[in-house]
Amino acid sequence: MTLDNDIERVLFSEGEILSGIDRVAREVTRTYQGRDFTVVSVLKGSCVFASDLIRRIPIPLELAFLAASSYGDGTTSGALEINFIPTGNEIEGRNLLLVDDILDTGRTLHKLKAELSKRGAAEVRTCVFLDKPSRREAPIKPDFRAFEVENLFVVGYGLDYAGRYRNLPYVGALKEVVYAAPKKTARG
Ligand code: PRP
Repeated sequence: MTLDNDIERVLFSEGEILSGIDRVAREVTRTYQGRDFTVVSVLKGSCVFASDLIRRIPIPLELAFLAASSYGDGTTSGALEINFIPTGNEIEGRNLLLVDDILDTGRTLHKLKAELSKRGAAEVRTCVFLDKPSRREAPIKPDFRAFEVENLFVVGYGLDYAGRYRNLPYVGALKEVVYAAPKKTARG
């Protein structure tokens, strides 16, 4: 039994993902050529995307992390918790590129942008792996995005359901039976 058994269909294969990221990396490189900037990876989901993205950007950059969590174990949004916020000197006067795995309702990145600007960032742009505009509630559009995705429960390439599936190398739609079923305990 592997994670693949829970996937209804593959939406983006590994190859498609890497060509999408090549394109976004070129756009980011053009935008920041000649300017200092910091990629801020929003954990946990963006760690896979951020690590592939930065290795395709051939100009100087710094890397920072923060954690934002709003979903808990379910499928609906809750309150936003921010942890590991970068230190003041990693924010003040800096050009920040917030990198996240998915822009869904938009509440997370909208709040993070406001918070980082409040803390003195010179500029805050956003780069997302997946954009799900059909779910948007907050007034935000990504500055860069690899793919637009329809309103399906997607997992893989960093995206989780109940903490799992992040390690799938592709993006897939989860079978309804998986998320409709009561969450299994650690013992299954
Ligand atoms: C997910 C995702 C984004 C956010 C997007 O994070 O990584 O940060 O939700 O949703 P929104 O646009 O509706 O705000 P999650 O809270 O699941 O944490 P994780 O990255 O640790 O999985």
